Amino acid sequence: MPAKDMSELVSLCQRRGFIFQSADIYGGMKGLYDFGPLGVELKNNIKRSWWSNMVYERDDVEGIDSAIIGPSITFEQSGHAATFNDPLTECRECKSRMRTDKMADPTKCETCGSKNLMEPRAFNMMFKTQYGPTEDSGSVAYLRPETAQHIFMNFKNVLDTTSRKLPFGIAQIGKAFRNEIIARNFVFRVREFEQMELEFFVQPGEDEKWHEYWLETRLKWWESVGVPREKIKVVDVAKDDLAHYSKRTFDLEYEYPHGHDEVEGIANRTDYDLGNHTKNQSELNLTAHVHENTKSNARLAVQDLEAKKWVVPYVIEPSAGLERAFLAILNEAYTEETLPAKEGKDAETRLVLKFKPHLAPIKAAVIPLAKNKPELVNLAKGIKADLQKLGLGRIIFEDTGNVGKAYRKHDEIGTPLCVTVDFDSLEDNAVTVRNRDTMEQQRIQIADLSAYLRKFYTL
Ligand code: GAP
Repeated sequence: MPAKDMSELVSLCQRRGFIFQSADIYGGMKGLYDFGPLGVELKNNIKRSWWSNMVYERDDVEGIDSAIIGPSITFEQSGHAATFNDPLTECRECKSRMRTDKMADPTKCETCGSKNLMEPRAFNMMFKTQYGPTEDSGSVAYLRPETAQHIFMNFKNVLDTTSRKLPFGIAQIGKAFRNEIIARNFVFRVREFEQMELEFFVQPGEDEKWHEYWLETRLKWWESVGVPREKIKVVDVAKDDLAHYSKRTFDLEYEYPHGHDEVEGIANRTDYDLGNHTKNQSELNLTAHVHENTKSNARLAVQDLEAKKWVVPYVIEPSAGLERAFLAILNEAYTEETLPAKEGKDAETRLVLKFKPHLAPIKAAVIPLAKNKPELVNLAKGIKADLQKLGLGRIIFEDTGNVGKAYRKHDEIGTPLCVTVDFDSLEDNAVTVRNRDTMEQQRIQIADLSAYLRKFYTL
């Protein structure tokens, strides 16, 4: 049962320390967010799951972690300098700025209703900066609007150092920056975000087959992180709406509280990018439109020894936004349950985040029944330290001294297991393990706890 609206997710994220408005002590910066103690754990777990699925569990993908800043030539060759624009209009009355392609009525201001709008103009979304101490045209650089261009620029480096043959891929997770005209819907549309991108290089002619393959593979991953297929609409993007580099794109649109919207794009980028970053383009049989005169000194191609020619691979690109994945996963986990009345207690509702265990920010909370009893506290701290060594993720020592409150808190932040140390533990060397989803409690020997957790997290 997902959240009823976005405000429920926003409020939970602020209350429990998942996400904060960036620079909030100075009034905040729109479209920029900071991830708090729980947010960073969830984010890292999503990244780990993606990396594991896209790199470690395969034999045909390598990873990189590139620079965030790129020289202006990169984005001239990639087409971003010329085409990475949104249509911007401004209201002359209230000074609101709007994207005309997202307005229900592009002749009327969305804020004050005035029809006194400026003529729309193309607004380039890249953040410009300079590198080095001089301010001449050669020092112009951009914060990357996608991680992909640095993957293309590293194509030959990876090929030469790993001796890969087609088909193979290069994966990267990292920051991307877009000066969005309007940042909205919490972390859905922001100006600084992370992308999880794979560029998968294939023989031209095999691209359509691989495009279908990656659509299926990605839907399976979404299912594995708790986002079921029926919540994702696959949109075969209309020709007129395709990005400048794409021959065909499948957009995966998740059912967010604000409506269906893109969580991932899977594009067939053809030989457009490698071609554009390659020297002597005219010697290659490029099919996509290229921007000639690159200053690149490399030929981003593979040799076909039999046919004695160079082949510029086609590229299939699954590209997911980490913040949008975070929001979808959080929304799917969000559950409000009514617990029936029992033992003189009224019925009550509980809010619980039913994350898949591998994504949960906290893997287990170890709680001593009383916080002023050194024997219990020391035993609980020792158990925490031992469980932490398992390498499953964050285990915390929970010193509230109120087990009921601790259970409520850990339901609300999605901790799958709570381990309670009570007075009997001092005698029977056992603890109570409470399961988040079933709320069942089980007595387990302290000596068996590590094996229990290891099994729980590998199921
Ligand atoms: N390299 C391909 C590329 O960048 P894109 O569709 O523009 O394609 C890929 O972006 C993904 O990045 C989107 O599906 C979305 O999840 C995420 N994304 C794009 N703009 C975003 C923004 N302003 N805020 C948060 N995520 C964004």
